[in-house]
Amino acid sequence: MGSLNIYVLGSAAGGGVPQWNCRCPVCSLYWAGDHRVQARSQSSIAVSADNERWLLINASPDLRQQILTSQVLQPREGARHSPIKAVILTNADVDHIAGLLVLRERQAFTVYATGQNQAILAENSVFNVLASEVVKRSTINMDEFFDTDIGLKVRPFSVPGKVALFMERGEDTKIGDVTETTIGLEITSGGKRLVYIPGCAEINETVRSIASGADLLLYDGTTYTDDEMPKLGLSQKTARRMGHTPITGPGGSLRAFDELSIGQKAYIHINNTNPILIDGSDEHQTVIAAGWTVTRDGTMFSL
Ligand code: MLT
Ligand code: MN
Ligand code: ZN
Repeated sequence: MGSLNIYVLGSAAGGGVPQWNCRCPVCSLYWAGDHRVQARSQSSIAVSADNERWLLINASPDLRQQILTSQVLQPREGARHSPIKAVILTNADVDHIAGLLVLRERQAFTVYATGQNQAILAENSVFNVLASEVVKRSTINMDEFFDTDIGLKVRPFSVPGKVALFMERGEDTKIGDVTETTIGLEITSGGKRLVYIPGCAEINETVRSIASGADLLLYDGTTYTDDEMPKLGLSQKTARRMGHTPITGPGGSLRAFDELSIGQKAYIHINNTNPILIDGSDEHQTVIAAGWTVTRDGTMFSL
């Protein structure tokens, strides 16, 4: 056990792998029973300093299933108990907030989010199933470390992003603004440092300087190429239009961190269209050769 323990609960982007209605090349392999493609749930990690009390980063719609397959997150004392002590949201996309509904049943924990994202929860009355007498909602400030009470210090920082898909206003949607809609997190414990950025439209100087020196960087691996979805005829949106950095091409993440000293680099929030999800594919081998890990559900890092 290290002083900073990270458990990948879900490694896929919105929709998961395979996506329920998708026959893209990756999902088709899965549906055909090809073992090179592993099923993945929607992106979330659990972080702990002591392996007893856990902080969830984002709450995916697959959270119930993720708890069923993760012993450390299961109740273990008294009539009601959970090792999940808090949840932090990095944006308000469905794949990151819908799992809050799984956490109803009057269990005490804290939901940390930016003012903008707290407002989205407050405006959607379905989240009132998290009884306000027991579930605390705490607004976090950018660029300041705060203490989670479970031995982890967290510093949120704004990254280029966009509003959640369900809040978009068509052509008027601004992409790449650095606001509190989309954040990254720096999490430290016992001198170890995790940088978590599951969604980011562009790798700017802030992202690079915070990633520099991290023991582990978990970064947005949504698509391999910017035009992946349009090319497959699945959507007109490029990765950037969706608020994500492609892995390859100009401004891609693959080589963007090469000059920096980073302990380990791993992709998370991987869309089902991304060919790195096919074990042994050229694209999979390319990212491994460039020093990246492709996370799976259940991947653990002990720093
Ligand atoms: C994204 O990361 O682009 C979103 O999760 C899309 C979605 O909400 O499905
Ligand atoms: Mn997403
Ligand atoms: Zn697919």
